Amino acid sequence: MRRNVVIFLLVTVAVLGLAVHHVWVLLSLLFVDGSEDAISRAELPAPNSPAISERPQVIPKIIHQTYINESVPEHWKGPQQSCLDLHPDYEYKLWTDKKSREFIAAEYPWFLETFDGYPYPIQRADAIRYFVLHHFGGIYIDLDDGCNRSLDPLLAYPAWVRKTKPTGISNDAMGSVPRHPFFLKAIDSLPDYNRGWLLPYITVMASTGPLYLSVIWRHYNSANPQGDDRVRILFPSEYNHHSWSFFTHHLGNSWHRTDVKLIFWMAQHWVLITVIGFAVGFSLLGCVYTVFLKPRQTNAPKSRFAYSRIPFYRRISQKSIELDDRHEV
Ligand SMILES: *[C@@H]1O[C@H](CO)[C@@H](O)[C@H](O)[C@H]1NC(C)=O
Repeated sequence: MRRNVVIFLLVTVAVLGLAVHHVWVLLSLLFVDGSEDAISRAELPAPNSPAISERPQVIPKIIHQTYINESVPEHWKGPQQSCLDLHPDYEYKLWTDKKSREFIAAEYPWFLETFDGYPYPIQRADAIRYFVLHHFGGIYIDLDDGCNRSLDPLLAYPAWVRKTKPTGISNDAMGSVPRHPFFLKAIDSLPDYNRGWLLPYITVMASTGPLYLSVIWRHYNSANPQGDDRVRILFPSEYNHHSWSFFTHHLGNSWHRTDVKLIFWMAQHWVLITVIGFAVGFSLLGCVYTVFLKPRQTNAPKSRFAYSRIPFYRRISQKSIELDDRHEV
């Protein structure tokens, strides 16, 4: 009996350890906010300040956006035009489904199978932005984000992303020089994260979306990159609702589904969810203990647990031998 309890405890500790290890990066996102890499407003010239042209511009002047085809819907034409108007000297690339696939096939053929295999189109829209930033460099902007001022000051940072709520970074506006190591890691890791994660929303978030990029960002930073290799972070006060903000946000996400509401509900009630999670977990452990490990009374009626004094692992193997034998007959 003693031995069983020890095995039981070891297994429990191992499972818990594995679980914590698996979500460690996720947990760390709750504590790391990227403020050490913040692009502070103090270092950004005001809109229209002549100081802007005195700063180095390392990111090439290219704006990337994505859509299914060339017919951008009416409600996104305003934000799209606002970026075009403010950047007449930038090259503009709209990555349609067709162009994206051709580009991956030509430049990153090792990724084509994963790219084609994604069950959700938004995963391709997520992935393509990392590839074009890696290949051409430039600035990627979601179609539902408009521009509020020239992005020129942001060309000074070799790689930047935006902070998002509740945690981590977003992939809706990002800038990079070509072949920055962060975006190299972002494209290289995509095949590994191409898994189903229970709900479509989580699958999209964790396989290619903001959650994916946040996890990659944490892994990337744990190698302690220095200087130009660091990814700079644009904080909300720098990007929304102010005259000095770079972007304006327009609602119109094309992929909000029921499970988004579920996730947001879960995020709001995470204490409750955690308590329920622990309750369910310990109940399960309790069940396992009762079924497999708890000593049975010797005078109990004969049942399939009659041989319960045999350790559960032996019992299982005995059972399969029995089944095998029967099969042979
Ligand atoms: C572009 O895609 C939209 C949405 O699927 C579709 O309604 C429209 O007909 C397409 N336009 C062209 C020119 O193929």
